[in-house]
Amino acid sequence: MKVLVIGGGAREHALCRALSLDPEVTALHCAPGNAGIAEVAALHPVDAQDGAAVTGLAVRLGLGPADLVVIGPEAPLVAGVADAVRERGIPVFGPSARAARLEGSKAFAKDVMAAAGVPTARAYVCATDAEVDQALDAFGAPYVVKDDGLAAGKGVVVTSDLAAAREHARACERVVIEEFLDGPEVSLFAVTDGESVVPLQPAQDFKRAYDADEGPNTGGMGAYSPLPWADPKLVDDVLATVLQPTVDELRRRGTPFTGLLYAGLAVTSRGVRVIEFNARFGDPETQAVLARLRTPLAGLLHAAATGTLAQFPPLRWSEGAAVTVVVAAANYPATPRSGDVIEGLDAVAAQDAPDAYVLHAGTRRDEAGRVVSAGGRVLSVTATGPGLAAARERAYRAVGRVSLAGSHHRTDIAAAAARGEG
Ligand code: AMP
Ligand code: GLY
Repeated sequence: MKVLVIGGGAREHALCRALSLDPEVTALHCAPGNAGIAEVAALHPVDAQDGAAVTGLAVRLGLGPADLVVIGPEAPLVAGVADAVRERGIPVFGPSARAARLEGSKAFAKDVMAAAGVPTARAYVCATDAEVDQALDAFGAPYVVKDDGLAAGKGVVVTSDLAAAREHARACERVVIEEFLDGPEVSLFAVTDGESVVPLQPAQDFKRAYDADEGPNTGGMGAYSPLPWADPKLVDDVLATVLQPTVDELRRRGTPFTGLLYAGLAVTSRGVRVIEFNARFGDPETQAVLARLRTPLAGLLHAAATGTLAQFPPLRWSEGAAVTVVVAAANYPATPRSGDVIEGLDAVAAQDAPDAYVLHAGTRRDEAGRVVSAGGRVLSVTATGPGLAAARERAYRAVGRVSLAGSHHRTDIAAAAARGEG
């Protein structure tokens, strides 16, 4: 199978790594990729958001068209890149632009959830300052204020400061104000062909920049899987109450969802509630989840892309745990600095592999061939082990070998869960 992956972050590196380990994959390509992905896939300097360019590449990949195109990030999905490739008859793992609105518009997602009876936070979509004030007043503190559109995980402000809540609302194009959900968060991914839904193992993400959940929201600073504190019935419950009804509702609307449905959940005292949907694999949870998946990845994604998931055998998972720690650039998430040299990557490869490895996010090679930082989240170090404590120790040992001037990372990823806490 000849596979083309679109994107160039740590999620795409994790996807490419898993695909490269699948014996069915005979050729692996990625556009645009990054310095780490270059070690497992042939890179192509194609703009991921340009549907015609991506389709052109998929059609003339090597000696014929790709057998499977996997679209990693949300922006190309929302821009209709999956539609463009699918129109040429090439199997695509990734939803159409219309189905990707589940992520692209929080108001649309709320509408789908209401129609499908999916439990979520109560919310108001506000158009004026007066409506904003009314909604803030109705829910009370802590306030949850969200930009309706895509904002790379940074469009949400959760605060008890009324002035700050108002200020964020004014800065949003279109604003959604919702009820605060307490309780731990879970990311649950499901692979779907628009009809059958196959959930993966749950993971937890760490959204805040600093230890103890301090600091601003980020795209995600680390993740782990499995969740020893979670109810063993969680996955089945979410499949029945959230994932399957959402997929059924989108099919009913004539916009079936093919690809990865990501449910961001809060496990509240009143049951599980959806915080948000995404239309693609989460970053960094994917790094931890795929580290434990034993089923070869290409066959699974191909079955979803070709509508044959119902016949796919049950997924196999390692019994162990996986932990991912993100190394972020100086000043991330505000205005990350780039161009700093990254050292220690060879040491990780020599001393920690295969239990721990580095997945590249914002990296590139400079003129001298050195790997330098080129984005906010620069690397994610992933490790596996028999349990969370061992995986954590291996991940942090590898992080300790990497040096990047000014970088920061959280030191408490999976720490509470490894101690048996939630
Ligand atoms: P989102 O972009 O919708 O995933 O929101 C980013 C983060 O904000 C989530 O991961 C939560 O930590 C937090 N958040 C969003 N919505 C809520 C809510 N209704 N109640 C509490 N926290 C929330
Ligand atoms: N880890 C959060 C996200 O991928 O949106």
